[in-house]
Amino acid sequence: MSKAVCPGSFDPVTLGHLDIIGRAARLFDEVVVALGVNPSKSRWFSPEERIAMMERACAPFPNVVVRGFTGLVTEFCAEQRAVALVKGLRSSSDFDYELPMAHMNVALTGIETVFLPASTGQSFVSSSLVKEVVSFGGDVAAFVPDFVLEALLERAAQRR
Ligand code: PNS
Repeated sequence: MSKAVCPGSFDPVTLGHLDIIGRAARLFDEVVVALGVNPSKSRWFSPEERIAMMERACAPFPNVVVRGFTGLVTEFCAEQRAVALVKGLRSSSDFDYELPMAHMNVALTGIETVFLPASTGQSFVSSSLVKEVVSFGGDVAAFVPDFVLEALLERAAQRR
C-alpha cells in the first residue's frame, strides 16, 4: 500500500489545499494530512480547531486521514511508513522555498517529495492572503469551504 503525507499548518484549510489533497488521494492508496502543531508561529486557529476544520473538509475523501504532528516531518513520515511527501506548488517562489526542504528531507531519511502544480484557479490562494483579506472585510467565499468562511468571519470579528 502506498501512503503519502501532505504536511502544512493549514491556518485555515483553503480550497487550494483541498485541490492538492484530493489529487494526492487519487495518486496514493492513503494520504495522511499532517498538520504541524509546533507553537512557533502565531496562528488564527488552535491546533484542535485546524484539525477539526481539516477533518470536515476531507470527509469526502475516503482514503485521507488527518493527524497533528510535532518535530520533524521526516520522523512523522517514518512513523507513518509513508513513501512520499506531497507539496503543492503555486509559483516559482514556492519552488525556491520548497526545493531545499525536499533535498534536506531526502538527505535525512530518504523520503521523496512529490510536487503537484496548483490548479490554475487556486494558484494565488494562500491561508495568509485569505486571512488578510478577511481582516479588511473582503470576500473570500470563493477560496475556502463554507464552514471555514464562517470560522474566519467569527475570528476576524474577535480580533478587531
Ligand atoms: O503550511 P506551512 O506553514 O508551509 O507548513 C510548514 C510545515 C509544517 C510543513 C513545515 O514547517 C514543517 O515541515 N515543519 C516540521 C519541521 C521540519 O521538519 N522542518 C525541517 C524541514 S526540511
